[in-house]
Amino acid sequence: MIRLGVVGANGKMGLQVVNLALNDKDFELVCAIDKFGAGKKLSENVFVEENLEESLVKRKPDVVVDFTQPSVIYENIKTYIKLGIKSVIGTTGLSKEQVEDIEKMSNEACVGVFIAPNFSIGAILMMEFAARASKYFNNAEIIEYHHNQKKDAPSGTSIKTAQMMMKNNDNFKLGNCEEIETIKGARGGNYSEDGKGNIQIHAIRMPGFVASQQVIFGVDGQVLKIHHDTINRECYMSGVALAVKHLYNNNKFIYGLENIL
Ligand SMILES: NC(=O)c1ccc[n+]([C@@H]2O[C@H](COP(=O)([O-])OP(=O)(O)OC[C@H]3O[C@@H](n4cnc5c(N)ncnc54)[C@H](O)[C@@H]3O)[C@@H](O)[C@H]2O)c1
Repeated sequence: MIRLGVVGANGKMGLQVVNLALNDKDFELVCAIDKFGAGKKLSENVFVEENLEESLVKRKPDVVVDFTQPSVIYENIKTYIKLGIKSVIGTTGLSKEQVEDIEKMSNEACVGVFIAPNFSIGAILMMEFAARASKYFNNAEIIEYHHNQKKDAPSGTSIKTAQMMMKNNDNFKLGNCEEIETIKGARGGNYSEDGKGNIQIHAIRMPGFVASQQVIFGVDGQVLKIHHDTINRECYMSGVALAVKHLYNNNKFIYGLENIL
C-alpha cells in the first residue's frame, strides 16, 4: 500500500485526489495539507493540516501529490526533495528554467519528481497528434480555454504542446505579412525558444469551461483543428494514479505523463 499525502487537499483538484486515495485499494491517505480549511475531517484519521513541512515529517508519506498554485510550487518541490519524499506535481506555472533546476536537484538527490502539465489521456493524445501534424503544416496557433479561477496563463498544457510541436517544426508563422496590433495582445502571446517556434498562444478565461484546447494548423487551401475538452476533473485521476504508482517504484525525474503511457 502506498502512503499518500495530498497537498492543496482542500482545492478543486486536491479533493479529487483525496477521493482517489480513499477509494483505491493501493493507496492509504496519510496526510492532507492545505493553507485553508485546517481541521476539516477527510476520513476517520485524516484532517487537513496547514504546515507543510511539519505534516510531512510527522506523517511520512511515500509520495505526495501537489495541486496548489503557481506562486508556491517551486518552493514546495524543494521541500519534498529536501525531505526525501517523492512527489507528483500537477500544479502548473513553473518556468522552463525552474523545471530544469528541479530536474537537476531531483537527480542529484535521487528523489523522484514527476511533473505533468496534464494528467488526462485525451489531452496527451491531442498534444501528440499536434506534434505529429507539425511536420506537415507551416502555420499553427493554439487556443486554450479555462475557468476564470485559473491563476496562470497560458496553461502548462499549451506550453508543453508548443514544446512538443517545435521538435518537428521550428517556425510556425511562415509567410505572414508584417502585423500591427491596434489592441495590445490581440494576436496572443508568442512562444519561441532561441528565436525558434513562433507559436501564438491565446488564453480564454471564463466560467463554464473546465479546460479545453484547440490547436489550429493552416496551409494554403486547408485548415486542421485538433480539439480536446475536459468535461470534469475526475478525468485526471487515472493519470494521477498511474504517475503515483510509477514513481513509487522509480526514482527518476519525469516531465509529462506521455513518458509512462
Ligand atoms: N496537471 C493537470 O492535469 C492539472 C489539471 C487541473 C489543474 N491543474 C493545476 O493544478 C493547480 C490547482 O488547481 P485547482 O483548480 O485545484 O485550484 P484550487 O484553487 O481549487 O486549489 C488549490 C488549493 O491549494 C491550496 N494552496 C495554495 N497554496 C498553498 C500552500 N502554500 N500550501 C498548501 N496549500 C496551498 C489552496 O488553499 C487551494 O485549496 C493549478 O495550478 C492548476 O492549473 C493541473
